Amino acid sequence: MEERVISGEVSNYDERFEQSLRPQFLSQYIGQEKVKDNLGIFIEAAKGRSESLDHVLLYGPPGLGKTTLATVIANEMDVNVRMTSGPAIERPGDLAAVVSSLEPGDVLFIDEIHRLNRSIEEVLYPAMEDFCLDIVVGKGPSARSIRLDLPPFTLIGATTRAGALSAPLRDRFGVPLRLEYYEVLPLTEIVVRSAGLFEVEIDERAAREIARRARGTPRIANRLLRRVRDYAQVRGNGNITLEMAEEALEMLQVDSHGLDHIDHKLLTGMIERFRGGPVGIDTISASIGEESVTIEDVYEPYLLQIGFIQRTPRGRIATRLAYDHFGYVFPEENTH
Ligand code: ADE
Repeated sequence: MEERVISGEVSNYDERFEQSLRPQFLSQYIGQEKVKDNLGIFIEAAKGRSESLDHVLLYGPPGLGKTTLATVIANEMDVNVRMTSGPAIERPGDLAAVVSSLEPGDVLFIDEIHRLNRSIEEVLYPAMEDFCLDIVVGKGPSARSIRLDLPPFTLIGATTRAGALSAPLRDRFGVPLRLEYYEVLPLTEIVVRSAGLFEVEIDERAAREIARRARGTPRIANRLLRRVRDYAQVRGNGNITLEMAEEALEMLQVDSHGLDHIDHKLLTGMIERFRGGPVGIDTISASIGEESVTIEDVYEPYLLQIGFIQRTPRGRIATRLAYDHFGYVFPEENTH
């Protein structure tokens, strides 16, 4: 898959910067008000009872701050956080190694938890419910099961696809929280905050312009900010004015809605070749040469969110908004 400046996925490059931008406490975390309200109460209640926090499932599109929130929760609970991911836990022993090193109340963060092996899930259930692990040691006739008691801990699972989680696993999370795409206002605040941490001057209107094109995603906003900062340093005096931001974003080929050439290819393809649909995902995939799962997981969620695409039982349709955005005349016989 091609690198996109507007991808929600984390790159190695982002990772270096994200660490320094991450809010440490709920009070510094901008946006996601409902999630913060809920968490604030559950955290205070758990602390008041001197208990570990219930297991938390964070789900939603990439780049909205699931890892950040896990760190914030651990800081608020005043405990350590151990980070791992679904694909990194290959054998029950891998899980045993991680959980047996936890201290009472610690947070275990499992990113991409939908990619956890089913055999590991089985081991995880008693760990989540009764804080114990049943591990089989040895092979053949001498194999036996040993039970390991664990300290109470909080599992925080993160996934972009809550639907891909097995029902028994999903049901074991006491606190499921859905992260939403950010509105432009909180995203503008995040850009201003990050610019402050980078020690660059930014015009409020420039921050809003970056936020408007960041697809509701802080990771993208921060990435665009870094590129705009480079541009302003080389072409200007380092201060990020609206003009600098617009020129830089133009150069990056990110349009007024945060769409790039891949979105253009997808939507204009639907409009020109399929009269706006309905068209099946596999047909779209074949016609633009991108895999169906990539379209579904990566390109489509934001286009659905902004109402450029709709899903119908007969396939995807490009809406009037998409026609207008790309300057096509909407065929009035299309009822959508
Ligand atoms: N940086 C990235 N996401 C953030 C958020 N939600 N609040 C503050 N800073 C952030």
